[in-house]
Amino acid sequence: MLRRFPSISQLKTVAAFRRRLQELGLALPVDEQILSGQDDSPLARPGRIGPLEVGNRWCIHPMEGWDAQLSGAPSPLTVRRWRHFGTSGAKLIWGGEAMAVVPQGRSSPRELLICEENRRGIKLLLEELKEAHLRRCGSLQGLVVGLQLTHSGRFSAPEGTPRPRIAWHHPLLDAKVGIAPTDDSPILSDQELQGLVPRYVEAAQLAAEVGFDFVDIKACHGYLLHELLGAHLRPGPYGGSLEGRSRLLRQIIQAVRQACPELVLGVRLSAFDLVPFAAGEREQEGRPQLRPELLPYRWGFGVDPHQPTRPHLHETFQLLHWLRDWGVAVVNLSGGSPYYCPHAQRPAQFPPCDGYPPPEDPLVGVGRMIEVARQCKEELPQLPLVGTGYSYLQEYLPHVAQAVVRQGWIDYVGLGRMVLSYPELPWDVLTTGRLNRRRICRTFSDCTTGPRNGLPSGCYPLDAFYKRLPEAVRLRKIKSSQ
Ligand SMILES: Cc1cc2nc3c(=O)[nH]c(=O)nc-3n(C[C@H](O)[C@H](O)[C@H](O)COP(=O)(O)O)c2cc1C
Repeated sequence: MLRRFPSISQLKTVAAFRRRLQELGLALPVDEQILSGQDDSPLARPGRIGPLEVGNRWCIHPMEGWDAQLSGAPSPLTVRRWRHFGTSGAKLIWGGEAMAVVPQGRSSPRELLICEENRRGIKLLLEELKEAHLRRCGSLQGLVVGLQLTHSGRFSAPEGTPRPRIAWHHPLLDAKVGIAPTDDSPILSDQELQGLVPRYVEAAQLAAEVGFDFVDIKACHGYLLHELLGAHLRPGPYGGSLEGRSRLLRQIIQAVRQACPELVLGVRLSAFDLVPFAAGEREQEGRPQLRPELLPYRWGFGVDPHQPTRPHLHETFQLLHWLRDWGVAVVNLSGGSPYYCPHAQRPAQFPPCDGYPPPEDPLVGVGRMIEVARQCKEELPQLPLVGTGYSYLQEYLPHVAQAVVRQGWIDYVGLGRMVLSYPELPWDVLTTGRLNRRRICRTFSDCTTGPRNGLPSGCYPLDAFYKRLPEAVRLRKIKSSQ
């Protein structure tokens, strides 16, 4: 039987919202009122990441648009999105969006590609973002912009159809990308993995030359460097112990530091993982795809091997200590993957077309993310951390965000889907202490359903620009036929 959960807009007051959290057993702090900068909001206070001063505690997460040109250069849609990142008023811009370091590592033919030929386009993105920020905020002071570098690994599809390159066989995910259990050809050899190190270095050098303040060596969401962290069963130097599983990440970080000593380094990390979920029979809520022979679960990182529907942070803490020791100045904490546990990675009321009806109140997913980040912060108080998964909080996003920052649960609050529908949210909060309710993301997941069907991402329900595109009509048809 499909469970229904009360929507956030039904919770009319802070008291009602708190009651709902209590019913769910979630101990999230919630401020009574939204504070503006003038009210001394914790979100308005500056922060520090290594040598960089960050003007406030709002961060814009990387948000890919599946709208690059086939060459991997940005399109006008990409530029528009980056202008929105700049105009948000957030002072920490994490990556803009994923940029592949090699053509074979693109997740779609519409993913950005960082290479010499695209240098001008990448520079343009940064310039447009900064100009929009300057226009909105009157100053570039405290603005910190990074670039996210990636290899999509298992989820590579550079020509549009899956061309997975994997770290190891996965008993459930191989079938999802068309790999037969006996076919070892998609497994990246040790040599191929090692060969990626110079590609990351070249990309980081280009980012530094273009003027980015930091690069993110992306290790989240099921992509290559994240998948490697769970390569318990891979033989050789890149598998087995955590030391082996994190070897490539360390080699990349160390090589980039050597080549670009001035460049600040960040890592976006899936701090926890879950066993893959899928819809139950007859479109029932998502269920973990657990079979007895998969226990103990040996295919993840930050997941309890005996109860793989639960995070287990022992190795996560160890890796965070190492990242700090290797010179990483900031970590953006995410969890899971949009491909196999979207309810945990981006809690939503309405699932994307390749997802499943929520198996839990999406607030539980938000609570999981915030609690995992709290525990990481407690373990490493000196390492600046960015939190994820706040968009589903909707009206109460600022109430929770300012409370968790004040209480030291997290240093920066990141916005993902919310920035597509309502880019100026941080600015509105900081300057007026109020939200424009009509622009709040209601987690319809069109921004994911679109790209899963070959369309660009964007907020089709609320952004007038996307609403008017012919693609909006196509998306409606696709949704109604599903
Ligand atoms: C359309 C879309 C594009 C995304 N692109 C990226 C990306 O390029 N890199 C990345 O690390 N995460 C990406 N994410 C994940 C978001 O950064 C964020 O972690 C997720 O949406 C949860 O945060 P939220 O609750 O604020 O939306 C994307 C998410 C969506 C919905």
